[in-house]
Amino acid sequence: MNEEKEPNEILVSGLELALRPADERDIGFCYELMSHNMRDLFDRNTQEKWSRAKFRSGFRPDRITIVEHEGMSVGFYDYEIVEAKWIYVHNLHLSKDYQTGVGTKIIRLIEQAARDRSVKAVIAKVFAENSRIIKWLQRKGYNLGEKIEPENSYWVKKDLQEIQ
Ligand SMILES: CC(C)(COP(=O)(O)OP(=O)(O)OC[C@H]1O[C@@H](n2cnc3c(N)ncnc32)[C@H](O)[C@@H]1OP(=O)(O)O)[C@@H](O)C(=O)NCCC(=O)NCCS
Repeated sequence: MNEEKEPNEILVSGLELALRPADERDIGFCYELMSHNMRDLFDRNTQEKWSRAKFRSGFRPDRITIVEHEGMSVGFYDYEIVEAKWIYVHNLHLSKDYQTGVGTKIIRLIEQAARDRSVKAVIAKVFAENSRIIKWLQRKGYNLGEKIEPENSYWVKKDLQEIQ
């Protein structure tokens, strides 16, 4: 199995960005960014609604990569390998000013990490009403899968076997 390490630095749209593992001290940044991006969607689409306690109990710095620009945290992403079959992307969030092609670069990095580990597909969940992200993922080769009714979400999946 090829265990390629992900790069520590990426260049996107002229920006030099650093990628580093998260630690417990990143919880405030991740909370604020995710709350900014997702609170309304959670409030509208889940029974439990946006919950600080749920965020805190699910915060897994060992899975998270922080995206930094000039020493400032500007985004994070979070994925895990499930049963050696899938990479499940839990989160991908960028600050508004950095939604300039950085997301494309990161999703490609995640897909490359999957290929390097001979993982066959990347999966994620999206809220059904989040048509902007659904379209974004479809443009990147993801297919809409099963609906998760209680969460008003869909699974999305990209098979990597055929794509080099
Ligand atoms: C979803 C997300 C990660 C996508 O990242 P992104 O960087 O915005 O996405 P893209 O890589 O497609 O780049 C966005 C646009 O910037 C454009 N762009 C590229 N270089 C640019 C530059 N130098 N300056 C400005 N815009 C630029 C791209 O062309 C693209 O526009 P297009 O869609 O018309 O092609 C990001 O929008 C985000 O964090 N959203 C909020 C959180 C969220 O919903 N996350 C997903 C659910 S977990």
